[in-house]
This record gives sequence, structure tokens and C-alpha cells, in this order.
Amino acid sequence: MSWKNDQVSGEETDKILEIARGCLECGGDFVELGCYKGDTSLLLAEILKDTEKKLFIYDSFEGLPEKSNKDESTIGKEFKGGELCVTKREVKERFLRANLPVPVIKKAWFNELTTEDLPERIAFAFLDGDFYESIRDSLKLVESKMANKGVIIVHDYNNLALPGVRKAVDEWAKDKSKEITVYQSMAIIV
Ligand SMILES: C[S@@+](CC[C@H](N)C(=O)[O-])C[C@H]1O[C@@H](n2cnc3c(N)ncnc32)[C@H](O)[C@@H]1O
Repeated sequence: MSWKNDQVSGEETDKILEIARGCLECGGDFVELGCYKGDTSLLLAEILKDTEKKLFIYDSFEGLPEKSNKDESTIGKEFKGGELCVTKREVKERFLRANLPVPVIKKAWFNELTTEDLPERIAFAFLDGDFYESIRDSLKLVESKMANKGVIIVHDYNNLALPGVRKAVDEWAKDKSKEITVYQSMAIIV
């Protein structure tokens, strides 16, 4: 399966899929917070289709929230409130057209979600909310649910246009003994 993903590079996608495949051995399900049109979600669903694991995807389906002052940067002006808006129905229809199991698709702002909205255990989490508060809230939601050897990938950690992402990850990681490696724009947290 392939199409042009305008949010995640081809090499990043390959890395995401390689890591996600490695997480099939871990207990728990896969989640993506910030699924947008579902380009990465469809590829994750393909990996999971013959397994017991489920995919859970989350988005406001109203586009990005407003930036906080931690997101301000002289570049990245195109990332603003309301951008990247698609409907939940459009995303669901893409799975049906691709003949893939439809994931649990939850429409919400991340700060409205509770851990009850997430699977009991998470083997692989892809966090792609672009802004400080979105990543801070996503990390809070997944942290207590990660399986042993489960992996969190945070997109845009190394993206100067979206400085809030790195701030949220670094603040979160400060008092934890987490191994973070960087691949292109992504932070990979085991
Ligand atoms: C860059 S796009 C995601 C791209 C997608 N992961 C992919 O691989 O194609 C960011 C998405 O995060 C969503 N988002 C960002 N912050 C959010 C928040 N606080 N609550 C809910 N959705 C949010 C936006 O609506 C947008 O669809």
C-alpha cells in the first residue's frame, strides 16, 4: 500500500513501520494521537490486520488547536489553529475502501480524553499533535499504559518550525530514565 503522505517523510514512515512491527511482540495495542487523514494509520492497520491487536486513533477532526506561546517560532507560520482539518467519516471511509479493519476512531481534543479512552495496554504509540500542549497531553495519556519494551514515537521533535514538541518531550523526560533517540524529525522513546 502506498500514497503520498504530506505530513511524514518516506524515510520516517519506513522507520515508524519498522519499529511498529518490532512492537508486535509486546503486549497491548497500537495508538496514534493526531491521525489527520489517516495516512500513517492505514499503514499501521495493515501491519495489525492478521493479529489480535487493535488500532486506536484520535483527533479533534477540527484541525490543529491554537498555538501556545511555547510554539512560537519565526518559521512554521502555516501551522495554525484550524489547519489540517478532515472529518472522522472521511478517515473511516479510507479504511473501508482499503478493505482494512476500521480502527477505534475517537473524535476529541486530547485534553478532553482520559486514560479510560485509551486501550488498557499500549505496545506502540505514535504522537503527532504538532504543538506543545498536544504532545504534553498525549504523553500524559499514554505514559502509564506503555507495555514493557513498548515504544513511543513523537513526530516533529527535531523540527524547528514546531518548537513546542521538543519542549513538551524534554520536560516530560526530565525526571524519567528514558532512552530517547532521534531519527530525522522524530524522537523514539523506549
Ligand atoms: C500533522 S497532523 C497528523 C498527521 C498524521 N499523524 C499522519 O501521519 O498523517 C496533526 C493532527 O493532530 C491533530 N491535533 C493536534 N493537536 C490536537 C489536540 N490537542 N487534540 C486533538 N487533535 C489534535 C490535528 O487535528 C491534526 O489532524
